[in-house]
Amino acid sequence: MFFVRLTFRILCFIVLKEVYGDNGEQYNLYGDAGRAYTLEIYIGRPPQKLNVLVDTGSTTLAIASYARKDSNIYYHSENSTSIFKSGKEVQAKYSQGTWVGRLVSDLVRSPLLPSIPEVRCDIALITTSHNFFMNGSRWQGLLGLAYLPVGAWGENVVVGSWLDSVEHAMNKPMSFRLKLCGARSTTNATHYGNLELLDDNTQTEGKMFRTRILRKWWYEIGVLSVRILNSTTTDQLENNTNTQLDNKTRNQAVTDTNVHDIDIEMCLTLNEEKSIVDSGTTNIRLPDILFRQVVDQLRNAAQTSNMLILDDFWYHGEAACWPEPQEWSLPWLAIDLLSIEADNQYFTLEIPPQNFMRVVSARNNSRDSGMVSEFCYKLGLEAGGKETILGYTAMEGLQILFNRSTGWIGWQSSNCGFGARVSGPYNTSTSLLTTCQLTQPVPDVAISIRAAQWTLCVISILAAAVLIYLLAPCIKMFLVKPLPRSQQISLSQAALVETETT
Ligand SMILES: *[C@@H]1O[C@H](CO)[C@@H](O)[C@H](O)[C@H]1NC(C)=O
Ligand SMILES: *[C@@H]1O[C@H](CO)[C@@H](O)[C@H](O)[C@H]1NC(C)=O
Ligand SMILES: *[C@@H]1O[C@H](CO)[C@@H](O)[C@H](O)[C@H]1NC(C)=O
Ligand SMILES: *[C@@H]1O[C@H](CO)[C@@H](O)[C@H](O)[C@H]1NC(C)=O
Ligand SMILES: *[C@@H]1O[C@H](CO)[C@@H](O)[C@H](O)[C@H]1NC(C)=O
Ligand SMILES: *[C@@H]1O[C@H](CO)[C@@H](O)[C@H](O)[C@H]1NC(C)=O
Repeated sequence: MFFVRLTFRILCFIVLKEVYGDNGEQYNLYGDAGRAYTLEIYIGRPPQKLNVLVDTGSTTLAIASYARKDSNIYYHSENSTSIFKSGKEVQAKYSQGTWVGRLVSDLVRSPLLPSIPEVRCDIALITTSHNFFMNGSRWQGLLGLAYLPVGAWGENVVVGSWLDSVEHAMNKPMSFRLKLCGARSTTNATHYGNLELLDDNTQTEGKMFRTRILRKWWYEIGVLSVRILNSTTTDQLENNTNTQLDNKTRNQAVTDTNVHDIDIEMCLTLNEEKSIVDSGTTNIRLPDILFRQVVDQLRNAAQTSNMLILDDFWYHGEAACWPEPQEWSLPWLAIDLLSIEADNQYFTLEIPPQNFMRVVSARNNSRDSGMVSEFCYKLGLEAGGKETILGYTAMEGLQILFNRSTGWIGWQSSNCGFGARVSGPYNTSTSLLTTCQLTQPVPDVAISIRAAQWTLCVISILAAAVLIYLLAPCIKMFLVKPLPRSQQISLSQAALVETETT
């Protein structure tokens, strides 16, 4: 339980509109492996450059305002001549850590979003934190893109969001589109993507599959099932992604084998608590039982194709490393989402193994002295109690339009990433909304508190992922591949570092 005392609310308004020249950048999001996607923003006068994590799992713009042990990049509020300080304190506590912040407002713009004006908006300045900013993270804060109910919270206070400020300034509803691309290449784990703000007049190209936002707090949607695409389909798909077959052939391969009925049991389990789309979470989190089901199947498929990877990789989030980049001959993952067009209709996100066998580090050192090449991977799936979270592992390679005001999310394939696709629509005989109990109301009282905790929870998940990776004593990898024994690596980078320093 925590208390937030905020009685200050600053109206967001436009101060000036600056138009920045087209810098020709197609991509404006970057990130290190496993550490989400960040956007560069400028705050205050004179402008201070900061990197913020683009997070659809929270709402508030929250920024570090003090030097941490490993980073002296932060927002110097005393240097900004345009800051409005409320003097109010926000504090939050959660199971693994805390942060304390102050509510202010200042001018915010991103040079990488040239058509979006600079706006004054609420900012939570984080003044102290515990287990919040992890060592080595290149971001100094969060840019929340969700709805107000999951923003920073206090009694009788609403902390405005940057998106709301932008809407207010532009005097029209704004949607945003995320195109997350994943790793740059098999040898460079740095990932990249694009965030775009669109108004309702924007023409979108290509076929888009839309799902309803069931509730405007997080981006809660109806996830009907998460399953493995069968192996004959997989083989075809694998081949298709490697060779440049035309789309017609590709789609053919999928639609022929992909029609199936929704497993009501699974659907109820997935949505028992809620299912959300969250770019601030790395993995696809599934309820425990389903995680086990899906991962069992993946592991079996790996064994069938003579790839023996230890259970610590599959079930305990440990990394597995090889001396060269891997081409995964594993089945694809299918995620069925409720269609907005009809209650008995759904469509399917088809996620290639390159998405969920996440590259966590890639080191090609053939020319450097002394060090060996090493390519490490982690499973992009995790068990999450009762919740379902489509983290960015489920978003990479797709173009996702969040139509905030109207309340739907549109999915389509993109020109980057590892070839993730969307197929459908498929019909079922019953109303999925009813059979999967997707309209169940959630009691309002608990929302705000859980919301605030959630913002932190997302970070803690991310942070924990990084920590586990850094601290994992050793990674175990065992592969039955015709590789010379000497080329096998059985320790992770973290373990090597540890050994060297002791
Ligand atoms: C803030 O101001 C101080 C003193 O005026 C200056 O030394 C420092 O570089 C400034 N920092 C930033 C980030 O602008
Ligand atoms: C943090 O990272 C830096 C280099 O990135 C390293 O030198 C330092 O030891 C790390 N600190 C901790 C506590 O892990
Ligand atoms: C990976 O790509 C990024 C962006 O192009 C680049 O800055 C970085 O140096 C590359 N890293 C490696 C290890 O090649
Ligand atoms: C959002 O949805 C509404 C209604 O479906 C539509 O008119 C509008 O164009 C959409 N906005 C975008 C950016 O697609
Ligand atoms: C590693 O680098 C060498 C040259 O530096 C290159 O020939 C080789 O193809 C690279 N390996 C991979 C997997 O990219
Ligand atoms: C699926 O259902 C929709 C709406 O109920 C209907 O318009 C469409 O024709 C159906 N498609 C098929 C292939 O049955």
